[in-house]
Amino acid sequence: MSEVAQDVTEEEIDLAGANAVIDKYLDMKGALMPVLQAIQEHYGYIPEPTVHLVAERLNVYASQIYGVLTFYAQFHLEPRGKYIVRVCMGTACHVKGAGRIAETLTERLGIGHAETTEDLKFTAEYVACIGACGMAPVIMVNDATYGSLTVQKMDEVIQKYQAMD
Ligand code: FES
Repeated sequence: MSEVAQDVTEEEIDLAGANAVIDKYLDMKGALMPVLQAIQEHYGYIPEPTVHLVAERLNVYASQIYGVLTFYAQFHLEPRGKYIVRVCMGTACHVKGAGRIAETLTERLGIGHAETTEDLKFTAEYVACIGACGMAPVIMVNDATYGSLTVQKMDEVIQKYQAMD
């Protein structure tokens, strides 16, 4: 068979990491969740070719895996940014101008909810109350919380992360 005739996956992914993860959990009962979690930890998301690899090696249908992936919000099927910017859209933040904060993010980085910049540096997520209402409006960048935001403060936060690797 010529190389051209082989089934070529569109997404070029080094599957060695996924195979190592599966090797580790292969004999475990209920391996699917820990395998998917470890794959996401390794790649930062669940690349499509790994879904088919897991299906084949754990002997489950790919459709079952997609069912799990879409049910649990923790899983992501697209690459995500190094910095996840969570904009709180809860009531307190909404009242204090969360919409303007989200707009600022879109104006500066060109991304809205669930979108990622092309350089894979930032992903935006609009979320429900993150429990810091006293500091509304609030965003989180990865684990760091920034409150009492104005457009100017938001700009400063964005610039700070843009300047970082
Ligand atoms: S509503 Fe934003 S932190 Fe509670």
